[in-house]
Amino acid sequence: MISLEPAQKARLAAEPPVADARAFPAGFRWGLATAAYQIEGGATAGGRGPSIWDTFAHTPGRVRHGDTGDVACDHYHRWRDDLDLLAALGVTDYRLSVSWSRLQPSGHGDLNPRAVEFYRDVLGGLRDRGIRPLVTLYHWDLPQPLEDAGGWPARATAARFAEYAGRVVTALGDLADDWVTLNEPWCSAILGYGEGAHAPGRADERAAVAAAHHLNLAHGLAVRAIRSARPEATVGITNLVTDLVATTDAPADVAAADRLDAASNRLFLDPVYLGEYSPAVLLAHPGLDDLVHPGDLDVIATPTDFAGVNHYQRIVARHDETAGPLHVAQRPADPATTAFGWSVVPASLTAVLTRVAKEFTALPLYVTENGAAYDDYADPNGDVADVERVAYLRGYLDAVADALRAGVDVRGYYAWSFLDNFEWAEGYGKRFGLVFVDYRTQERIPKLSAHWYRRLITSTRPET
Ligand code: NOJ
Repeated sequence: MISLEPAQKARLAAEPPVADARAFPAGFRWGLATAAYQIEGGATAGGRGPSIWDTFAHTPGRVRHGDTGDVACDHYHRWRDDLDLLAALGVTDYRLSVSWSRLQPSGHGDLNPRAVEFYRDVLGGLRDRGIRPLVTLYHWDLPQPLEDAGGWPARATAARFAEYAGRVVTALGDLADDWVTLNEPWCSAILGYGEGAHAPGRADERAAVAAAHHLNLAHGLAVRAIRSARPEATVGITNLVTDLVATTDAPADVAAADRLDAASNRLFLDPVYLGEYSPAVLLAHPGLDDLVHPGDLDVIATPTDFAGVNHYQRIVARHDETAGPLHVAQRPADPATTAFGWSVVPASLTAVLTRVAKEFTALPLYVTENGAAYDDYADPNGDVADVERVAYLRGYLDAVADALRAGVDVRGYYAWSFLDNFEWAEGYGKRFGLVFVDYRTQERIPKLSAHWYRRLITSTRPET
C-alpha cells in the first residue's frame, strides 16, 4: 500500500469519482456484497449446524493460519450496527447470502425457526433503512450432513437444494423480491471437488464434473421451486465470468483459450442460457454426457429474470502439450497487481458483460461481485487509505459505463465486499472490504474507497 500525501487525498476528493457518472441510468443499483460464512460468525449460535466450510476450516492445513469462520466479522451479533453503516455509506442495494446450515442444519425438512427469525430481522432492518436486498441462497455452505450423504456429486443434493430454496422463499419472500440461486458454481465444483482447494477438499475430476452438473440442475429445480413458492419473486444465478484470452494469435493458442473457456465459463453459462452442453463443453469434460438425464437441460434452462455476473480478472492462455488434460497453460494477465496476484484489466469487465449479452442472454445483467484485495492497514491516524482500491473500482466502473454506452443492459453493480472478511482458503489474510475490520476489536473503519463510493453514488443520484 502506498501512503497518500495530503495533497493526493485532496485531489482524490476533488476529482469526479468516475469519468462519466451520467452513463449510469436512473435506478441503477449501487450495492455492496457479502456472504454468510465470510462475515456472520455465530457458528453454533441459534441452532446453526456445521457446513462443509466449518469442517474444512477446522481441518489442519486447509486454510491459511488455521483461520476459521467461527467468529469472522461477528455480523451475527453486530448486524444492526452493520446495517447502520451500510446506510451511512449511501448504498441503495445490498447483496447478502443466507446460510443453508443455519436455516436447515440437517439439509432437509422444516427450517430452523431461530434462523428464520435472524434473517427476518436482517431483511426487515434493510427495509427499514431503505436498502433493497439481493439474497443468495447458496454461497458455498453445504450442510455437512448432505456432504456426508455424497455432496454435490450426488444427484439427490440438487433436489435437497430445491426443497430448501422453496422453503426459504416461503419464509422470507415477503421481505426480499430478488433471489440468486447459486453463487459461482464453478468454485463449488472445480475448487471444491476437482482441486480440493475449497471445501469439501476433494480432488477428483469425475466428482467435480458430477458436482457441476448437479449444481446446474439444482439451480433449475430451485428456480421452479421459488416460482411456485412466490410467483412475483425475481430470480437468477450468479456465475463467475473470467475474461480468457489467448497469449498469441497462433491458432493453437486461440484453440487453447477456447478449451479453457469451455471447461470453465461455458460449463455453467451454456446450459443455463442456451439449454445445452455444447460439443466443446462435452469434449472438455469427459463423462459429463453420461450424467445428463432426459429433461435435465430443460430444467436447467428454466427461464430466469436476470443474470448475475461476478468478474475478477483476465487470464491469458496458451497451448502447452504438457499442461494437464486440456493442454492449456494459464496465468493472470499483466498487470497482476492485487494482493492475490490477480490481474487488473478493467476492459475485461466490458468484454465479459458484452459477451454475456451477445452470446448468452438478453436478460438484464447485474455485476453481482467485482473487487480486489490489497494490503490495507489503519495508519497512525486510524485512516485506511486504500488508494489502489479506489483506482481499481474507478477503472472497473468506467468499464461498466463503456458497456452501458455500447447498449448492454446492466442494471446494477455490487462491489465485493462491504467488510473485510473470511476469504476462504486465504483466511483473514486477504482484505477485499471497502470497510476495514480490526478482527481483534471488531472495529469497522470505512476505507477511503468507502468514502469514494458514497460520493460516486451521491453524484449519480443528485436528487437525494
Ligand atoms: C468470489 C466469491 O463469491 C467470494 O465469496 C470471494 O470472497 C470473492 N470471489 C473473492 O475471492
